[in-house]
Amino acid sequence: MLNRSQAGTGQGSVPSTQPKAAQRPERTLTLLSVSTGVLFAFIGSTVGALFLGQLSGLPIETGASLFPSHPFLQIYGFIALFVMGVDYSLLPRFKVGRLPSLVLGYAAYASITAANAFFLLYSILPLGSFQYVTAGALLMLAGSAISLSQVVILVTRPSGGFPEANPLIMLSSISLVMISLLLVAGSAGYPLPGGTFSPQMVYLALVGFAGSMIYAVEIRSVSFRQCNYRKQVANLCWVLQGLGIGGMFTGVVTRSNLFSLLGAVLLLGAALSQLVSIKILELAHPLMYRPAMTKMHFRIMRYNEVCMLLASGWLVFGSLMGMVWLATGTGTFFVKDSFIHAIAIGFVGSTITCFAPMLLPGLLGHKGPVTGLSFGPIVILNAGVLVRIVGDFQTLTARAPPLWESVSGPLVLVAMGWFLVMIRGIGRPKQAAAQSSVSRKFSLAESRGIAEGQLTVSTRTTNREVTFPVWFVVADGLIHLLPVNGSSTRWYRNVSKNPGVKITIAGHVYLGTAQSTREKEKVKQVMDIFRDKYGDRNCRNFFGDRTDVAVSVYVPSP
Ligand code: HEM
Repeated sequence: MLNRSQAGTGQGSVPSTQPKAAQRPERTLTLLSVSTGVLFAFIGSTVGALFLGQLSGLPIETGASLFPSHPFLQIYGFIALFVMGVDYSLLPRFKVGRLPSLVLGYAAYASITAANAFFLLYSILPLGSFQYVTAGALLMLAGSAISLSQVVILVTRPSGGFPEANPLIMLSSISLVMISLLLVAGSAGYPLPGGTFSPQMVYLALVGFAGSMIYAVEIRSVSFRQCNYRKQVANLCWVLQGLGIGGMFTGVVTRSNLFSLLGAVLLLGAALSQLVSIKILELAHPLMYRPAMTKMHFRIMRYNEVCMLLASGWLVFGSLMGMVWLATGTGTFFVKDSFIHAIAIGFVGSTITCFAPMLLPGLLGHKGPVTGLSFGPIVILNAGVLVRIVGDFQTLTARAPPLWESVSGPLVLVAMGWFLVMIRGIGRPKQAAAQSSVSRKFSLAESRGIAEGQLTVSTRTTNREVTFPVWFVVADGLIHLLPVNGSSTRWYRNVSKNPGVKITIAGHVYLGTAQSTREKEKVKQVMDIFRDKYGDRNCRNFFGDRTDVAVSVYVPSP
Protein backbone atom coordinates (compact mmCIF):
# COMPACT_ATOMS: atom_id res chain seq x y z
CA MET A 1 0.00 0.00 0.00
CA LEU A 2 1.38 3.44 -0.86
CA ASN A 3 2.05 5.71 2.19
CA ARG A 4 1.89 9.50 2.68
CA SER A 5 5.64 9.92 3.09
CA GLN A 6 5.91 9.21 -0.59
CA ALA A 7 3.89 12.30 -1.26
CA GLY A 8 5.41 14.61 1.35
CA THR A 9 3.11 16.54 3.73
CA GLY A 10 -0.28 15.19 2.65
CA GLN A 11 -1.40 18.66 1.64
CA GLY A 12 -2.59 17.29 -1.75
CA SER A 13 0.03 18.24 -4.36
CA VAL A 14 3.73 19.00 -3.77
CA PRO A 15 6.03 19.21 -6.86
CA SER A 16 8.22 16.08 -7.13
CA THR A 17 11.85 17.13 -7.37
CA GLN A 18 12.55 16.90 -11.09
CA PRO A 19 15.99 18.20 -12.07
CA LYS A 20 16.06 20.97 -14.86
CA ALA A 21 16.98 19.26 -18.20
CA ALA A 22 20.72 19.80 -18.84
CA GLN A 23 21.29 21.91 -21.98
CA ARG A 24 22.74 19.93 -24.87
CA PRO A 25 26.31 20.89 -25.91
CA GLU A 26 25.12 21.36 -29.51
CA ARG A 27 22.57 24.01 -28.47
CA THR A 28 24.68 27.15 -29.05
CA LEU A 29 26.11 25.87 -32.32
CA THR A 30 22.59 25.03 -33.55
CA LEU A 31 21.16 28.43 -32.60
CA LEU A 32 24.17 30.17 -34.19
CA SER A 33 23.84 28.20 -37.41
CA VAL A 34 20.07 28.63 -37.67
CA SER A 35 20.06 32.33 -36.86
CA THR A 36 22.93 33.08 -39.27
CA GLY A 37 21.02 31.16 -41.95
CA VAL A 38 17.90 33.21 -41.24
CA LEU A 39 19.95 36.42 -41.45
CA PHE A 40 21.21 35.42 -44.92
CA ALA A 41 17.62 34.56 -45.88
CA PHE A 42 16.49 38.06 -44.94
CA ILE A 43 19.34 39.71 -46.87
CA GLY A 44 18.83 37.38 -49.87
CA SER A 45 15.03 37.77 -49.90
CA THR A 46 15.23 41.56 -49.59
CA VAL A 47 17.65 41.70 -52.52
CA GLY A 48 15.35 39.34 -54.44
CA ALA A 49 12.29 41.45 -53.62
CA LEU A 50 14.06 44.60 -54.85
CA PHE A 51 15.00 42.88 -58.12
CA LEU A 52 11.52 41.44 -58.58
CA GLY A 53 10.10 44.93 -57.99
CA GLN A 54 12.47 46.29 -60.65
CA LEU A 55 11.55 43.51 -63.11
CA SER A 56 7.84 44.24 -62.50
CA GLY A 57 8.31 47.89 -63.38
CA LEU A 58 8.86 49.62 -60.02
CA PRO A 59 11.42 52.48 -60.18
CA ILE A 60 14.07 50.64 -58.17
CA GLU A 61 17.73 51.02 -59.22
CA THR A 62 19.64 48.92 -56.69
CA GLY A 63 17.78 45.66 -57.40
CA ALA A 64 19.89 44.51 -60.34
CA SER A 65 23.27 45.59 -58.93
CA LEU A 66 22.84 43.68 -55.67
CA PHE A 67 21.07 40.72 -57.26
CA PRO A 68 24.14 38.52 -58.08
CA SER A 69 24.47 37.61 -54.38
CA HIS A 70 20.79 36.57 -54.10
CA PRO A 71 20.96 32.91 -55.19
CA PHE A 72 24.28 32.39 -53.36
CA LEU A 73 22.98 33.76 -50.05
CA GLN A 74 19.71 31.86 -50.35
CA ILE A 75 21.19 28.47 -51.25
CA TYR A 76 24.71 28.44 -49.75
CA GLY A 77 23.78 30.77 -46.86
CA PHE A 78 20.17 30.29 -45.70
CA ILE A 79 19.51 26.70 -46.81
CA ALA A 80 23.01 25.37 -46.04
CA LEU A 81 23.27 26.87 -42.54
CA PHE A 82 19.63 26.23 -41.59
CA VAL A 83 19.75 22.55 -42.57
CA MET A 84 23.17 22.18 -40.93
CA GLY A 85 21.74 23.72 -37.73
CA VAL A 86 18.89 21.22 -37.81
CA ASP A 87 21.44 18.43 -38.34
CA TYR A 88 23.41 19.50 -35.28
CA SER A 89 20.29 19.71 -33.12
CA LEU A 90 18.34 16.66 -34.28
CA LEU A 91 20.89 14.03 -35.32
CA PRO A 92 22.49 13.64 -31.87
CA ARG A 93 18.99 13.34 -30.41
CA PHE A 94 17.84 10.97 -33.16
CA LYS A 95 20.91 8.80 -32.56
CA VAL A 96 20.81 9.06 -28.76
CA GLY A 97 24.31 10.48 -28.58
CA ARG A 98 26.48 13.56 -28.98
CA LEU A 99 27.93 15.35 -32.00
CA PRO A 100 31.26 13.61 -32.71
CA SER A 101 33.21 16.89 -32.51
CA LEU A 102 31.84 20.26 -31.43
CA VAL A 103 35.06 21.95 -32.60
CA LEU A 104 34.61 20.56 -36.10
CA GLY A 105 30.99 21.66 -35.93
CA TYR A 106 32.08 25.24 -35.26
CA ALA A 107 34.73 24.94 -37.98
CA ALA A 108 32.09 23.95 -40.55
CA TYR A 109 29.85 26.80 -39.40
CA ALA A 110 32.68 29.35 -39.63
CA SER A 111 33.77 28.08 -43.03
CA ILE A 112 30.29 28.32 -44.55
CA THR A 113 29.58 31.71 -42.98
CA ALA A 114 32.88 33.06 -44.33
CA ALA A 115 31.99 31.65 -47.76
CA ASN A 116 28.77 33.67 -47.75
CA ALA A 117 30.60 36.81 -46.70
CA PHE A 118 32.64 36.37 -49.90
CA PHE A 119 29.47 35.81 -51.96
CA LEU A 120 28.06 39.06 -50.54
CA LEU A 121 31.28 40.90 -51.40
CA TYR A 122 30.96 39.49 -54.92
CA SER A 123 27.88 41.63 -55.59
CA ILE A 124 28.94 44.67 -53.56
CA LEU A 125 32.50 45.00 -55.00
CA PRO A 126 31.97 44.24 -58.71
CA LEU A 127 35.52 44.81 -59.96
CA GLY A 128 37.61 41.59 -60.27
CA SER A 129 35.17 40.00 -57.95
CA PHE A 130 34.90 36.47 -59.24
CA GLN A 131 37.83 35.46 -57.05
CA TYR A 132 35.41 36.02 -54.17
CA VAL A 133 33.23 33.27 -55.60
CA THR A 134 36.23 30.93 -55.91
CA ALA A 135 37.25 31.68 -52.33
CA GLY A 136 33.67 31.21 -51.21
CA ALA A 137 33.35 27.96 -53.14
CA LEU A 138 36.48 26.48 -51.52
CA LEU A 139 35.24 27.45 -48.06
CA MET A 140 31.84 25.90 -48.88
CA LEU A 141 33.56 22.69 -49.90
CA ALA A 142 35.58 22.58 -46.69
CA GLY A 143 32.53 23.26 -44.51
CA SER A 144 30.30 20.74 -46.29
CA ALA A 145 33.02 18.04 -46.16
CA ILE A 146 33.43 18.51 -42.40
CA SER A 147 29.67 18.37 -41.94
CA LEU A 148 29.44 15.18 -44.04
CA SER A 149 32.14 13.48 -41.93
CA GLN A 150 30.17 14.21 -38.74
CA VAL A 151 26.89 13.06 -40.26
CA VAL A 152 28.43 9.78 -41.46
CA ILE A 153 29.70 8.98 -37.94
CA LEU A 154 26.32 9.79 -36.38
CA VAL A 155 24.07 8.14 -38.97
CA THR A 156 26.02 4.87 -39.01
CA ARG A 157 25.40 4.42 -35.26
CA PRO A 158 22.91 1.55 -34.80
CA SER A 159 20.85 3.37 -32.15
CA GLY A 160 17.82 5.60 -32.67
CA GLY A 161 15.31 3.63 -34.73
CA PHE A 162 13.61 4.81 -37.95
CA PRO A 163 16.27 3.09 -40.15
CA GLU A 164 14.56 4.35 -43.32
CA ALA A 165 15.45 7.94 -42.41
CA ASN A 166 19.22 7.35 -42.14
CA PRO A 167 20.07 7.05 -45.87
CA LEU A 168 18.10 10.25 -46.50
CA ILE A 169 20.12 12.15 -43.89
CA MET A 170 23.30 10.89 -45.54
CA LEU A 171 22.06 11.84 -49.05
CA SER A 172 21.36 15.34 -47.80
CA SER A 173 24.95 15.91 -46.71
CA ILE A 174 26.35 14.25 -49.82
CA SER A 175 24.28 16.64 -51.98
CA LEU A 176 25.77 19.67 -50.20
CA VAL A 177 29.28 18.40 -50.95
CA MET A 178 28.25 17.82 -54.58
CA ILE A 179 26.98 21.40 -55.15
CA SER A 180 30.06 22.81 -53.39
CA LEU A 181 32.30 20.67 -55.61
CA LEU A 182 30.44 21.88 -58.72
CA LEU A 183 30.74 25.48 -57.54
CA VAL A 184 34.53 25.04 -57.13
CA ALA A 185 34.73 23.42 -60.58
CA GLY A 186 32.64 26.17 -62.15
CA SER A 187 34.69 28.95 -60.54
CA ALA A 188 37.87 27.19 -61.73
CA GLY A 189 36.56 27.42 -65.29
CA TYR A 190 34.97 24.00 -65.75
CA PRO A 191 32.07 24.64 -68.17
CA LEU A 192 28.98 23.83 -66.08
CA PRO A 193 25.89 23.35 -68.32
CA GLY A 194 23.48 26.25 -67.67
CA GLY A 195 25.91 28.19 -65.46
CA THR A 196 26.21 28.37 -61.67
CA PHE A 197 22.48 28.16 -60.99
CA SER A 198 21.45 25.65 -63.62
CA PRO A 199 18.34 23.50 -63.11
CA GLN A 200 20.62 20.61 -62.07
CA MET A 201 22.35 22.73 -59.39
CA VAL A 202 19.00 23.98 -58.08
CA TYR A 203 17.66 20.39 -58.01
CA LEU A 204 20.70 19.15 -56.09
CA ALA A 205 20.48 22.06 -53.63
CA LEU A 206 16.74 22.28 -52.98
CA VAL A 207 15.51 18.70 -53.61
CA GLY A 208 18.74 16.74 -52.98
CA PHE A 209 20.18 18.61 -49.98
CA ALA A 210 17.18 20.28 -48.33
CA GLY A 211 14.59 17.77 -49.62
CA SER A 212 16.36 14.63 -48.33
CA MET A 213 16.67 16.13 -44.83
CA ILE A 214 13.02 17.19 -44.92
CA TYR A 215 11.92 13.65 -45.87
CA ALA A 216 13.96 12.23 -42.98
CA VAL A 217 12.45 14.66 -40.45
CA GLU A 218 8.95 14.01 -41.83
CA ILE A 219 9.39 10.24 -41.33
CA ARG A 220 10.68 10.71 -37.79
CA SER A 221 7.95 13.12 -36.78
CA VAL A 222 4.82 11.41 -38.09
CA SER A 223 3.65 11.28 -34.46
CA PHE A 224 2.98 15.04 -34.63
CA ARG A 225 0.21 14.01 -37.02
CA GLN A 226 -0.87 11.07 -34.80
CA CYS A 227 0.12 8.80 -37.60
CA ASN A 228 2.69 6.24 -38.71
CA TYR A 229 4.48 5.64 -42.02
CA ARG A 230 4.78 2.84 -44.58
CA LYS A 231 8.28 1.39 -44.16
CA GLN A 232 8.57 -0.33 -47.57
CA VAL A 233 7.50 2.82 -49.40
CA ALA A 234 9.92 4.85 -47.26
CA ASN A 235 12.70 2.53 -48.45
CA LEU A 236 11.60 3.05 -52.04
CA CYS A 237 11.76 6.81 -51.42
CA TRP A 238 15.44 6.90 -50.40
CA VAL A 239 16.43 4.52 -53.20
CA LEU A 240 14.76 6.74 -55.83
CA GLN A 241 16.14 9.85 -54.10
CA GLY A 242 19.68 8.43 -54.20
CA LEU A 243 19.42 7.43 -57.85
CA GLY A 244 17.88 10.81 -58.71
CA ILE A 245 20.71 12.73 -57.04
CA GLY A 246 23.26 10.48 -58.78
CA GLY A 247 21.55 11.03 -62.13
CA MET A 248 21.44 14.80 -61.67
CA PHE A 249 25.11 15.02 -60.66
CA THR A 250 26.18 12.80 -63.56
CA GLY A 251 24.07 14.97 -65.85
CA VAL A 252 26.07 18.08 -64.84
CA VAL A 253 29.50 16.45 -64.93
CA THR A 254 28.91 14.71 -68.28
CA ARG A 255 26.81 17.64 -69.62
CA SER A 256 24.19 15.04 -70.56
CA ASN A 257 20.63 16.32 -70.47
CA LEU A 258 19.38 12.73 -70.61
CA PHE A 259 20.96 11.88 -67.27
CA SER A 260 19.60 15.12 -65.79
CA LEU A 261 16.09 14.39 -67.04
CA LEU A 262 16.29 10.83 -65.73
CA GLY A 263 17.44 12.27 -62.41
CA ALA A 264 14.47 14.65 -62.36
CA VAL A 265 12.00 11.81 -63.03
CA LEU A 266 13.55 9.71 -60.23
CA LEU A 267 13.44 12.65 -57.80
CA LEU A 268 9.77 13.22 -58.62
CA GLY A 269 9.24 9.49 -57.98
CA ALA A 270 10.94 9.85 -54.60
CA ALA A 271 8.74 12.87 -53.75
CA LEU A 272 5.56 10.96 -54.61
CA SER A 273 6.64 7.85 -52.66
CA GLN A 274 7.37 10.10 -49.68
CA LEU A 275 3.80 11.42 -49.84
CA VAL A 276 2.49 7.84 -49.86
CA SER A 277 4.89 6.68 -47.15
CA ILE A 278 3.94 9.38 -44.60
CA LYS A 279 0.23 9.26 -45.59
CA ILE A 280 0.06 13.02 -46.06
CA LEU A 281 -2.91 12.79 -48.45
CA GLU A 282 -4.92 10.38 -46.29
CA LEU A 283 -5.81 12.57 -43.29
CA ALA A 284 -7.22 9.50 -41.48
CA HIS A 285 -4.95 9.05 -38.52
CA PRO A 286 -5.35 6.03 -36.28
CA LEU A 287 -4.46 7.15 -32.76
CA MET A 288 -1.48 4.84 -32.55
CA TYR A 289 1.22 6.88 -31.00
CA ARG A 290 -0.16 9.02 -28.26
CA PRO A 291 -2.14 7.49 -25.47
CA ALA A 292 -3.81 10.82 -24.97
CA MET A 293 -4.68 13.72 -27.18
CA THR A 294 -6.16 17.04 -26.27
CA LYS A 295 -7.40 19.90 -28.40
CA MET A 296 -3.84 21.21 -28.35
CA HIS A 297 -2.58 18.00 -30.01
CA PHE A 298 -5.42 18.35 -32.45
CA ARG A 299 -4.29 21.86 -33.34
CA ILE A 300 -0.67 20.73 -33.78
CA MET A 301 -1.85 17.88 -35.98
CA ARG A 302 -3.97 20.18 -38.15
CA TYR A 303 -1.15 22.74 -38.36
CA ASN A 304 1.26 20.04 -39.52
CA GLU A 305 -1.22 18.71 -42.06
CA VAL A 306 -1.92 22.13 -43.58
CA CYS A 307 1.78 23.03 -43.82
CA MET A 308 2.81 19.68 -45.26
CA LEU A 309 -0.01 19.54 -47.80
CA LEU A 310 0.96 22.99 -49.09
CA ALA A 311 4.66 22.08 -49.11
CA SER A 312 4.00 18.84 -50.98
CA GLY A 313 1.83 20.61 -53.55
CA TRP A 314 4.57 23.14 -54.34
CA LEU A 315 7.21 20.39 -54.49
CA VAL A 316 5.27 18.41 -57.10
CA PHE A 317 4.40 21.55 -59.12
CA GLY A 318 7.99 22.83 -58.96
CA SER A 319 9.40 19.42 -59.92
CA LEU A 320 7.17 19.30 -63.00
CA MET A 321 8.40 22.78 -63.98
CA GLY A 322 11.98 21.61 -63.52
CA MET A 323 11.35 18.68 -65.84
CA VAL A 324 9.93 21.05 -68.47
CA TRP A 325 13.06 23.19 -68.15
CA LEU A 326 15.35 20.17 -68.59
CA ALA A 327 13.24 18.64 -71.37
CA THR A 328 13.10 21.86 -73.40
CA GLY A 329 16.66 22.86 -72.55
CA THR A 330 15.57 26.53 -72.25
CA GLY A 331 13.87 27.96 -69.20
CA THR A 332 11.33 30.66 -70.01
CA PHE A 333 10.96 33.17 -67.14
CA PHE A 334 7.74 31.40 -66.08
CA VAL A 335 9.25 27.89 -66.09
CA LYS A 336 12.56 28.86 -64.48
CA ASP A 337 11.25 31.24 -61.85
CA SER A 338 8.31 29.08 -60.82
CA PHE A 339 10.53 25.96 -60.63
CA ILE A 340 13.02 27.66 -58.33
CA HIS A 341 10.67 29.59 -56.08
CA ALA A 342 7.82 27.06 -55.85
CA ILE A 343 10.38 24.66 -54.37
CA ALA A 344 12.57 27.17 -52.50
CA ILE A 345 9.81 29.20 -50.83
CA GLY A 346 6.73 26.95 -51.26
CA PHE A 347 8.22 23.56 -50.35
CA VAL A 348 11.26 24.40 -48.19
CA GLY A 349 9.71 27.54 -46.67
CA SER A 350 6.41 25.84 -45.76
CA THR A 351 8.24 22.85 -44.27
CA ILE A 352 10.43 25.06 -42.08
CA THR A 353 7.28 26.93 -40.99
CA CYS A 354 5.81 23.51 -40.15
CA PHE A 355 8.56 21.90 -38.09
CA ALA A 356 10.45 24.77 -36.52
CA PRO A 357 7.60 25.53 -34.05
CA MET A 358 7.74 21.85 -33.01
CA LEU A 359 11.51 21.47 -32.80
CA LEU A 360 13.06 24.86 -31.97
CA PRO A 361 11.24 25.85 -28.72
CA GLY A 362 12.99 23.00 -26.87
CA LEU A 363 16.31 24.53 -27.90
CA LEU A 364 15.21 27.89 -26.52
CA GLY A 365 14.26 26.28 -23.21
CA HIS A 366 10.55 26.80 -23.97
CA LYS A 367 7.76 24.30 -23.89
CA GLY A 368 6.51 22.87 -27.24
CA PRO A 369 3.78 24.68 -29.20
CA VAL A 370 1.16 24.34 -26.44
CA THR A 371 0.44 28.03 -27.05
CA GLY A 372 1.36 30.66 -29.58
CA LEU A 373 0.93 28.51 -32.72
CA SER A 374 -0.54 30.70 -35.48
CA PHE A 375 -1.58 29.88 -39.04
CA GLY A 376 -0.70 33.48 -40.05
CA PRO A 377 2.89 32.90 -41.30
CA ILE A 378 2.03 29.82 -43.39
CA VAL A 379 -0.97 31.57 -45.00
CA ILE A 380 0.97 34.74 -45.86
CA LEU A 381 3.99 32.79 -47.12
CA ASN A 382 1.85 30.72 -49.48
CA ALA A 383 -0.07 33.79 -50.62
CA GLY A 384 3.32 35.27 -51.55
CA VAL A 385 4.25 32.17 -53.57
CA LEU A 386 0.85 32.07 -55.28
CA VAL A 387 1.08 35.75 -56.33
CA ARG A 388 4.56 34.95 -57.68
CA ILE A 389 3.53 31.93 -59.74
CA VAL A 390 0.40 33.55 -61.15
CA GLY A 391 2.44 36.65 -62.02
CA ASP A 392 5.12 34.50 -63.65
CA PHE A 393 2.39 32.82 -65.71
CA GLN A 394 1.45 36.22 -67.10
CA THR A 395 4.94 36.53 -68.58
CA LEU A 396 3.99 33.84 -71.10
CA THR A 397 2.00 36.52 -72.90
CA ALA A 398 3.67 39.70 -71.59
CA ARG A 399 7.23 40.99 -71.79
CA ALA A 400 7.69 41.45 -68.05
CA PRO A 401 6.10 40.31 -64.77
CA PRO A 402 2.96 42.37 -63.90
CA LEU A 403 3.41 45.24 -61.42
CA TRP A 404 1.31 43.51 -58.76
CA GLU A 405 3.74 40.56 -58.73
CA SER A 406 6.20 42.79 -56.86
CA VAL A 407 3.94 42.32 -53.81
CA SER A 408 5.14 38.72 -53.58
CA GLY A 409 8.57 39.64 -52.14
CA PRO A 410 7.22 41.79 -49.26
CA LEU A 411 4.56 39.13 -48.49
CA VAL A 412 7.30 36.50 -48.06
CA LEU A 413 9.35 38.91 -45.91
CA VAL A 414 6.31 39.64 -43.70
CA ALA A 415 5.67 35.90 -43.33
CA MET A 416 9.32 35.37 -42.31
CA GLY A 417 9.13 38.21 -39.74
CA TRP A 418 5.82 37.00 -38.29
CA PHE A 419 7.24 33.48 -38.12
CA LEU A 420 10.23 34.62 -36.04
CA VAL A 421 7.93 36.47 -33.66
CA MET A 422 5.79 33.34 -33.38
CA ILE A 423 8.81 31.09 -32.68
CA ARG A 424 9.97 33.47 -29.95
CA GLY A 425 6.55 33.38 -28.27
CA ILE A 426 5.82 29.65 -28.63
CA GLY A 427 5.23 27.84 -25.30
CA ARG A 428 6.31 30.89 -23.33
CA PRO A 429 3.07 32.19 -21.80
CA LYS A 430 2.06 28.87 -20.31
CA GLN A 431 5.50 28.40 -18.91
CA ALA A 432 5.20 31.69 -17.05
CA ALA A 433 1.80 30.68 -15.69
CA ALA A 434 3.24 27.29 -14.71
CA GLN A 435 6.15 29.03 -12.92
CA SER A 436 3.85 31.17 -10.83
CA SER A 437 1.57 28.20 -10.14
CA VAL A 438 4.52 26.18 -8.81
CA SER A 439 5.34 28.97 -6.39
CA ARG A 440 1.64 29.34 -5.52
CA LYS A 441 1.04 25.49 -5.27
CA PHE A 442 -0.40 23.75 -8.27
CA SER A 443 -4.07 22.76 -8.08
CA LEU A 444 -5.89 20.04 -9.93
CA ALA A 445 -8.29 22.57 -11.41
CA GLU A 446 -5.43 23.70 -13.68
CA SER A 447 -4.87 20.25 -15.15
CA ARG A 448 -7.38 20.53 -18.04
CA GLY A 449 -4.66 21.26 -20.59
CA ILE A 450 -2.56 18.37 -19.35
CA ALA A 451 -3.13 15.29 -21.48
CA GLU A 452 -1.48 12.51 -19.61
CA GLY A 453 -0.97 11.42 -16.02
CA GLN A 454 0.93 8.53 -14.47
CA LEU A 455 -1.11 6.08 -12.40
CA THR A 456 0.79 3.98 -9.85
CA VAL A 457 -0.98 0.93 -8.41
CA SER A 458 0.03 -2.05 -6.29
CA THR A 459 -0.13 -5.41 -7.99
CA ARG A 460 -2.69 -7.93 -6.69
CA THR A 461 -0.23 -10.69 -5.83
CA THR A 462 3.15 -9.16 -4.93
CA ASN A 463 2.01 -5.65 -3.89
CA ARG A 464 4.75 -4.31 -6.20
CA GLU A 465 4.23 -0.80 -7.51
CA VAL A 466 3.64 -0.46 -11.27
CA THR A 467 2.96 2.75 -13.18
CA PHE A 468 0.82 3.31 -16.31
CA PRO A 469 0.30 6.42 -18.45
CA VAL A 470 -3.38 7.32 -18.30
CA TRP A 471 -5.93 9.81 -19.58
CA PHE A 472 -7.79 11.57 -16.81
CA VAL A 473 -10.44 14.18 -16.21
CA VAL A 474 -10.82 16.19 -13.01
CA ALA A 475 -14.42 16.98 -12.10
CA ASP A 476 -16.33 17.50 -8.84
CA GLY A 477 -13.05 17.16 -6.86
CA LEU A 478 -12.51 13.64 -8.21
CA ILE A 479 -9.94 12.36 -10.70
CA HIS A 480 -11.85 10.23 -13.21
CA LEU A 481 -10.16 7.40 -15.14
CA LEU A 482 -11.40 5.07 -17.87
CA PRO A 483 -9.48 1.78 -18.28
CA VAL A 484 -8.65 1.54 -22.01
CA ASN A 485 -9.71 -2.12 -22.28
CA GLY A 486 -12.53 -1.84 -19.81
CA SER A 487 -12.66 -4.24 -16.87
CA SER A 488 -9.99 -6.48 -18.39
CA THR A 489 -7.42 -3.70 -18.17
CA ARG A 490 -4.41 -4.73 -16.01
CA TRP A 491 -4.31 -1.69 -13.75
CA TYR A 492 -8.05 -1.85 -13.20
CA ARG A 493 -7.83 -5.44 -11.94
CA ASN A 494 -5.07 -4.36 -9.51
CA VAL A 495 -7.07 -1.37 -8.33
CA SER A 496 -10.12 -3.55 -7.72
CA LYS A 497 -7.99 -5.46 -5.22
CA ASN A 498 -5.86 -2.54 -3.92
CA PRO A 499 -7.83 0.73 -4.20
CA GLY A 500 -4.98 2.87 -2.79
CA VAL A 501 -3.34 4.61 -5.76
CA LYS A 502 -0.90 7.38 -6.60
CA ILE A 503 -1.48 9.71 -9.55
CA THR A 504 1.25 12.04 -10.83
CA ILE A 505 0.11 15.01 -12.93
CA ALA A 506 2.65 17.52 -14.23
CA GLY A 507 5.10 16.36 -11.57
CA HIS A 508 2.58 16.75 -8.76
CA VAL A 509 1.77 13.62 -6.77
CA TYR A 510 -1.72 12.78 -5.46
CA LEU A 511 -2.53 9.92 -3.13
CA GLY A 512 -6.09 8.74 -3.31
CA THR A 513 -8.58 5.91 -3.13
CA ALA A 514 -10.13 4.50 -6.26
CA GLN A 515 -13.81 3.66 -6.49
CA SER A 516 -15.27 2.05 -9.59
CA THR A 517 -18.74 1.73 -11.07
CA ARG A 518 -20.18 -0.40 -13.85
CA GLU A 519 -23.53 1.38 -13.91
CA LYS A 520 -24.11 2.14 -17.60
CA GLU A 521 -25.46 5.65 -16.94
CA LYS A 522 -22.55 6.57 -14.66
CA VAL A 523 -19.99 5.12 -17.07
CA LYS A 524 -21.60 7.13 -19.89
CA GLN A 525 -21.41 10.35 -17.83
CA VAL A 526 -17.68 9.82 -17.32
CA MET A 527 -17.23 9.06 -21.04
CA ASP A 528 -19.03 12.34 -21.84
CA ILE A 529 -16.57 14.42 -19.84
CA PHE A 530 -13.71 12.55 -21.51
CA ARG A 531 -15.17 13.39 -24.94
CA ASP A 532 -15.33 17.01 -23.89
CA LYS A 533 -11.63 17.05 -22.97
CA TYR A 534 -10.08 14.74 -25.57
CA GLY A 535 -12.50 15.05 -28.45
CA ASP A 536 -15.15 12.60 -29.64
CA ARG A 537 -13.14 11.03 -32.47
CA ASN A 538 -10.21 10.25 -30.21
CA CYS A 539 -12.33 8.67 -27.55
CA ARG A 540 -13.93 6.46 -30.20
CA ASN A 541 -10.50 5.58 -31.62
CA PHE A 542 -8.96 4.88 -28.24
CA PHE A 543 -11.71 3.25 -26.23
CA GLY A 544 -13.80 1.79 -29.05
CA ASP A 545 -16.75 0.03 -27.39
CA ARG A 546 -14.71 -1.63 -24.66
CA THR A 547 -15.68 0.82 -21.86
CA ASP A 548 -17.73 -1.06 -19.28
CA VAL A 549 -16.35 0.45 -16.09
CA ALA A 550 -15.33 3.89 -14.81
CA VAL A 551 -12.97 4.65 -11.92
CA SER A 552 -12.99 7.78 -9.79
CA VAL A 553 -10.16 8.57 -7.44
CA TYR A 554 -10.99 10.49 -4.30
CA VAL A 555 -8.07 12.67 -3.23
CA PRO A 556 -8.35 13.90 0.38
CA SER A 557 -7.22 17.49 -0.30
CA PRO A 558 -6.73 18.07 -4.07
C1 HEM B 1 11.28 36.70 -50.96
C2 HEM B 1 11.80 35.69 -51.53
C3 HEM B 1 12.47 35.74 -52.89
C4 HEM B 1 12.39 36.66 -53.90
C5 HEM B 1 11.57 37.91 -53.92
C6 HEM B 1 13.24 36.18 -54.99
C7 HEM B 1 13.41 36.88 -56.20
C8 HEM B 1 14.15 36.38 -57.25
C9 HEM B 1 14.23 37.02 -58.55
C10 HEM B 1 13.53 38.29 -58.93
C11 HEM B 1 15.02 36.24 -59.33
C12 HEM B 1 15.44 36.50 -60.78
C13 HEM B 1 14.55 35.76 -61.67
C14 HEM B 1 15.10 35.83 -63.07
O1 HEM B 1 15.53 36.85 -63.49
O2 HEM B 1 15.03 34.78 -63.69
C15 HEM B 1 15.45 35.14 -58.52
C16 HEM B 1 16.26 34.17 -59.00
C17 HEM B 1 16.69 33.13 -58.19
N1 HEM B 1 16.34 32.90 -56.87
FE1 HEM B 1 15.08 33.96 -55.78
N2 HEM B 1 13.80 35.00 -54.63
C18 HEM B 1 13.37 34.70 -53.36
C19 HEM B 1 13.67 33.62 -52.62
C20 HEM B 1 14.57 32.67 -53.04
C21 HEM B 1 14.95 31.54 -52.25
C22 HEM B 1 14.39 31.21 -50.85
C23 HEM B 1 15.86 30.85 -53.00
C24 HEM B 1 16.60 29.58 -52.67
C25 HEM B 1 16.69 29.03 -51.56
C26 HEM B 1 16.04 31.57 -54.24
C27 HEM B 1 16.89 31.17 -55.25
C28 HEM B 1 16.99 31.78 -56.47
C29 HEM B 1 17.81 31.27 -57.58
C30 HEM B 1 18.68 30.04 -57.55
C31 HEM B 1 17.61 32.13 -58.67
C32 HEM B 1 18.22 32.03 -60.07
C33 HEM B 1 19.42 32.89 -60.12
C34 HEM B 1 20.09 32.85 -61.47
O3 HEM B 1 19.51 32.38 -62.42
O4 HEM B 1 21.23 33.32 -61.49
N3 HEM B 1 15.24 32.67 -54.24
N4 HEM B 1 14.90 35.24 -57.25
